[in-house]
Amino acid sequence: MGESLRLVLLGPPGAGKGTQAKFVCERAKIPHVSTGDILRKSVADQTPLGQEAGQYITKGELVPDTLVLNMIAQRLSDKYCTNGFILDGFPRTTPQAEGLRENLEKIDRPLDHVLYVNVPRETTIQRLAGRRTCTKCGALYHRVLSPPVHPSVCDRCKAELFQRDDDREETIAARLKVYERQTSPLIEYYRSQGLLREIDGVGGVEAIRNCVFQALELEGR
Ligand code: AP5
Repeated sequence: MGESLRLVLLGPPGAGKGTQAKFVCERAKIPHVSTGDILRKSVADQTPLGQEAGQYITKGELVPDTLVLNMIAQRLSDKYCTNGFILDGFPRTTPQAEGLRENLEKIDRPLDHVLYVNVPRETTIQRLAGRRTCTKCGALYHRVLSPPVHPSVCDRCKAELFQRDDDREETIAARLKVYERQTSPLIEYYRSQGLLREIDGVGGVEAIRNCVFQALELEGR
């Protein structure tokens, strides 16, 4: 069994957090906890949480802190997070970061690192506008930058690919604004706690993966 690793991935929409989280999970053998994925599944399953969250996601706004904090507290107390986790898309506000700290203090498992993936606005817009996701296995593609062999078919499981509703131009702009206003202050929040590690997220997927592994000291694992 690998050493435990409790990690937050921080960065703007389209920074490549989901793409890189998959590599880290595989290497460090820890679960990928993506609040975006959990919320989208709740919307698709029409759960009470999904019914409430859907209206915010469609507009590119953040789902209220209390809803997200409750959802995450349940996940982190699950047995499958005992050996660590990678949080992708959470926390996104200072109250969420404070809530996370309190939760982890209670179970005596503080964060090890916060990895900030720094990507300029133009790159994130280009990545989000071309993103395609597999309906079945969640694999990520980009129409131009990492296209599947057959457009709209997943290379791995042959299921259909879809474009996220919130990847439309006007919603992307709204999400980026929300990120600047509500999430980017967390960079300094975590830097001041000595937890922040930063990488330049511009470059090919493989090159960034190597930078991520280096920043997290995962190369030899
Ligand atoms: P969420 O799903 O978390 O979206 P996000 O943070 O906006 O991030 P993305 O998933 O859009 O981007 P990513 O950084 O993961 O990039 P990816 O790897 O896919 O949140 C969605 C919504 O849910 C929010 O707007 C909010 O409403 C709600 N929500 C979620 N969490 C919440 C919270 N904590 N509180 C409140 N509300 C919350 O890559 C993007 C594309 O680029 C892909 O096509 C990929 O193939 C390509 N790509 C990736 N890396 C590279 C590379 N190096 N080179 C070329 N292409 C690349």
